[in-house]
Amino acid sequence: MQPNEFRRHGHAVVDWIADYLENPEQWPVLPGVRPGELRSSLPPSPPARGESMDAVLDDFRKLIVPATTHWNHPAFMAYFANSSTGAGVLGEALTAALNVNAMLWRTSPAATELELLTLDWLRQMLGLPEKFFGVIGDTASSNTLYALAAAREMHPELRIRQDGMPGRADMPKVAVYCSEEAHSSVDKAVMTLGFGLSALRKIPTDDQLRMDPEALDAAVKSDRRVGAIPLAVVATVGTTSTTAIDPVPAIAAICEREKMWLHIDASYGGTAAILPEMRYALEGCDRADSLVVNPHKWLFTPMDCSALYTSRPELLKQAFQHVPEFLVVSEGEDVVNLMDYGISLGRRFRALKLWFVIRNFGVEGLQSLIREHIRLAKRLAQWIDDDPTLERLAEVNFSTVVFRHRPAGMAANELNQHNTRVLEKVNATREVYLSHTRVRGSYAFRVAIGNIHTTEAHVRRALDLVREAGRSK
Ligand SMILES: Cc1ncc(COP(=O)(O)O)c(C=O)c1O
Repeated sequence: MQPNEFRRHGHAVVDWIADYLENPEQWPVLPGVRPGELRSSLPPSPPARGESMDAVLDDFRKLIVPATTHWNHPAFMAYFANSSTGAGVLGEALTAALNVNAMLWRTSPAATELELLTLDWLRQMLGLPEKFFGVIGDTASSNTLYALAAAREMHPELRIRQDGMPGRADMPKVAVYCSEEAHSSVDKAVMTLGFGLSALRKIPTDDQLRMDPEALDAAVKSDRRVGAIPLAVVATVGTTSTTAIDPVPAIAAICEREKMWLHIDASYGGTAAILPEMRYALEGCDRADSLVVNPHKWLFTPMDCSALYTSRPELLKQAFQHVPEFLVVSEGEDVVNLMDYGISLGRRFRALKLWFVIRNFGVEGLQSLIREHIRLAKRLAQWIDDDPTLERLAEVNFSTVVFRHRPAGMAANELNQHNTRVLEKVNATREVYLSHTRVRGSYAFRVAIGNIHTTEAHVRRALDLVREAGRSK
């Protein structure tokens, strides 16, 4: 592509993005496609000769966009809603243009130093102590896995790095603890690290779905009695299902006494701590060994960008540093080589988009967006509480509201099926996208407010659609 051609298409793409972000409601939030429909509309084999970018961009507009679920749509309130932003998109574009690999300091001093600096800014915004060293990874799932790999390094006597675990008669059982409400990424981490799912203790929760520290204590003691090593606890600040906040101070005390690694999954909820009035959500997290928070969830940074903080960077490095001859450099301890803190050698320059977002919005700008999302969630909760045909099933700790439709006279055993149907009807309108969960077995809708374009009118409309679907036969 010649530079002048690039310029022409580049301008067209920027115009398209500007229009898209200006009015993300021009397409329904959910696409009207059947499985396989997009694929069958495209050639099954690659073109032998290059095609014009005009043709490629035309297909993007005509085929790809209509088959996309629009996470940027203000009525996207499923899962944990996120959104792209001008600053984030520009950062991504420049990351692609520079195309550096931040594996070693030398392979991109800017990418390395900006990653360390930007995560230090974010650390300050969250009120975490200076001892927390942060690196950016793709997702919270990978970062939780890395944290648990570092936790094993607290036990050098296990020699896992060198000898592995399978087939060793001298290898004691290990145990990892999380609440029964923790994210499935914890299960995946223990599966992948070779501990096995049977090493994961799902600790019961209280009436607000928070980990019960007494039950944790009992489980640790029971593991000790049979000679297992209690390795790590994953506490969650903002569980996926209902955004519950585990009692981190009490959990930290148990971890300190038992010399267990404490990892905090604050992927979603952690962001709220940029508000002084929400700082309490991270209470006790200064005592953690590691913490994950995702700017790609609720900090207006495009996918993917997940921050992993640790107060034990030497153990994270011990778990992952392995330098082949062709990557030996002469800078020594004067520099940080980011490849030493995870499994990926190739690392994208992800810090650029986060740095752009933080600079362009400013801390106060980000705070006012997060504050507004929390306000909208509380308002929605009030509307639900005022309506006798609706029932809220969880506290609103952040910007997510969990509830169900409960028409007068409907038998309790019909409610799950009824609400499943209601959600299907609501999403079939393609006007809003909500997802679901189960709260102690009860099927419930989740309305997660995290999109920069979402207003009170969108939230109101989502609730009206639930009411209409609930009434209809
Ligand atoms: C509490 C929690 N932890 C971890 C994850 C996984 O995040 P990621 O998609 O970045 O792996 C999620 C996803 O929603 C989550 O809600």
